[in-house]
Amino acid sequence: MRTMLVTGGAGFIGANFVHLTRSRHPEDHIIVLDKLTYAGNRDSLAGAEVEFLEGDVCDAALVDAAVSRADAVIHFAAESHNDNSLRDPRPFVDTNVVGTFTILEAVRRHETRLHHISTDEVFGDLALDDPARFTETTPYQPSSPYSATKAGSDHLVRAWVRSFGVTATISNCSNNYGPYQHIEKFIPRQITNILDGRTPKLYGTGEQVRDWIHVDDHNAAVHLILEQGRIGETYNIGADNDHVDNKRVMELICELMDAPGYEHVADRPGHDQRYAMDSTKLRTELGWAPRYTDTDTGMRAGLEQTIAWYRDNEAWWRPAKEQVEAGYAERGQ
Ligand code: NAD
Ligand code: DAU
Repeated sequence: MRTMLVTGGAGFIGANFVHLTRSRHPEDHIIVLDKLTYAGNRDSLAGAEVEFLEGDVCDAALVDAAVSRADAVIHFAAESHNDNSLRDPRPFVDTNVVGTFTILEAVRRHETRLHHISTDEVFGDLALDDPARFTETTPYQPSSPYSATKAGSDHLVRAWVRSFGVTATISNCSNNYGPYQHIEKFIPRQITNILDGRTPKLYGTGEQVRDWIHVDDHNAAVHLILEQGRIGETYNIGADNDHVDNKRVMELICELMDAPGYEHVADRPGHDQRYAMDSTKLRTELGWAPRYTDTDTGMRAGLEQTIAWYRDNEAWWRPAKEQVEAGYAERGQ
């Protein structure tokens, strides 16, 4: 039996990771450490047997005690929303940088295996007409306070591997979608807008490209890296959807939900244009491949499943809807 410490396990990707782990390894003991910020939801873990610790990844004593009991730490906890980082960057520096530092010091003391979850945004963006893809050696060039703090956390992990022999791996993944994603984010915001009788909102022209991946495909890759990844290595994760722009995703959501249309709203300041991941290393070295692939956008089946989940789980998202939309309205979005 292993004990896994999952930070940020009440958030979108972390909760999906817990459910996946429970189904694959029912014998594992799972400790979730989560601050339950606005983005964390205890209900996302309903039905999954876990030991839940409510607390901050910056709390060194709490983190040390939890890490001392774990065989592996999977570090998801972060402030994750770009729009919020433009309004108030401070929590991003605290959680993403100081929080990761706190985790690193604890795994260093207890010689515990760490997997650090990061993002493709650390590489900055590509021009819309640039066919290149980010590889593991692409230089870091983050654009927003969010991506800058994630880049900082990745650098800390690499320095702790090299300087102190910490046994860590890193993965940088593209945009996830699926159940339990906070409704501030693009796809669930539009799905719940339509379910709520509101008009979906597309930033600017909608030409921006995100390399969308279903959350279960991301987490399957994390399991592989945890079990077979080489210590000190970084793995890019992406599902080859870098040909799908936001407008196309919006049109597909409207089509699948039989919605009349959407409106263009003010663009995000400094909006990253195009993300595209080259995940050859993960595929060739560890044999990973995404399961959610189909022709057209590569997202139809995954979006149908995601839409059905939000339709069936209104009690999960309803309490946050009014406040999220009021916040966007204040910012003209
Ligand atoms: P999320 O915002 O849905 O969840 C974050 C979770 O972390 C929440 O449960 C929150 O309560 C918790 N948290 C925040 N601050 C904390 C603190 N100080 N101490 C303890 N817990 C804290 O985020 P997500 O979308 O699930 O992202 C998870 C991770 O994956 C992040 O590291 C993010 O950078 C990375 N990532 C996300 C995506 C994506 O598309 N969502 C893509 C690539 C990488
Ligand atoms: O690339 C990985 C990153 O993906 C993660 O590291 C972040 O944690 C995650 O939030 C996500 O960042 P984005 O900024 O790309 O995701 P978001 O869902 O906020 O927006 C996706 C795209 O949709 C982006 O181009 C902005 C646009 N958008 C967003 C919202 C909320 C809209 O057009 N309308 C909207 O209402």
